[in-house]
Amino acid sequence: MNGLFFTLFASLVVVLQVSASPLHFHLHQRGASVEGNATSTESEATCATFGYTGINGPLGWAGLSPDNALCSTGTSQSPINFNAQIKKASANPTVWMPDGFGDFENLGTTVEVSQVGKTTFEGKVYNLQQFHFHTPSEHRIEDETFPLEVHFVHAADDGAGLVLGAVFDITPTGATTEFVHTLGQEVEKIPKAGDKTQVHGLKLGKIVEAFQTGPLFTYSGSLTTPPCSEGITWVFAQNPLPIDVKSYLAFKNVIKFNARFTQNNSGEKNLIDIAATQIGPQFKATQVSEAI
Ligand SMILES: *[C@@H]1O[C@H](CO)[C@@H](O)[C@H](O)[C@H]1NC(C)=O
Ligand SMILES: *[C@@H]1O[C@H](CO)[C@@H](O)[C@H](O)[C@H]1NC(C)=O
Ligand SMILES: [Zn+2]
Repeated sequence: MNGLFFTLFASLVVVLQVSASPLHFHLHQRGASVEGNATSTESEATCATFGYTGINGPLGWAGLSPDNALCSTGTSQSPINFNAQIKKASANPTVWMPDGFGDFENLGTTVEVSQVGKTTFEGKVYNLQQFHFHTPSEHRIEDETFPLEVHFVHAADDGAGLVLGAVFDITPTGATTEFVHTLGQEVEKIPKAGDKTQVHGLKLGKIVEAFQTGPLFTYSGSLTTPPCSEGITWVFAQNPLPIDVKSYLAFKNVIKFNARFTQNNSGEKNLIDIAATQIGPQFKATQVSEAI
């Protein structure tokens, strides 16, 4: 928790120094990955160039900066596969998110809306910082992947992090959820990293309802992007919300791909760690002699 606190604190300090708006405080390293350059004033050594492809992708995140070590060694990493082993939340959170407006920005690694709000879960109050999207989904439910996932990223005054997450599934009937339908039209205006637009009249009612009244999974995990900080409380809607095909295609067309691979369950060894041990010289020699 100290590490997370430090990271949050450091990000806050950096952002406060360079940004006109103190609300631009993000668990995702906002701005750092835009255009893949570490030269902007907002950039930090952490994850300056992380992406989703090749050596800058999830397998190489730990190699981009010593700050990202947990990405390959952490033992409570996200995302995971939700199945019967994962705990169900015993009580729903209280969620306040005003129907809103805010900046909708393409960060290169995701599209994100700055949004105020407040969530109380298990007696602790967390402030909403922003929400953003992943396509395809990062979490899986009973092994299944979904077209889109949303993360509402919160931080408490003491630095503790909480993410409310949900997946969306396309529907044969065209049924949709209003806020992704609205943002599906807006996302076309921000096709490139660094693009920004203002969104108005976001109706968050259905998603708030899913968290406040629906069945939820909960577990202690991490950020799904560098520096992969742990101690994040995940509260995740068990039931997918609907999204219409047109909105989904708009998100996919802009985001393209930004899902980290499924991690080992909380408390188990990091998969990169396991793989690295298996690819020792002995293993390679066996492979080669078998090939010959
Ligand atoms: C990014 O860095 C490269 C060289 O490393 C440079 O040529 C390019 O102009 C930089 N782009 C921006 C936007 O600073
Ligand atoms: C998760 O880690 C454990 C060791 O802690 C290992 O035995 C298991 O195979 C790993 N899971 C997967 C899916 O590889
Ligand atoms: Zn995310």
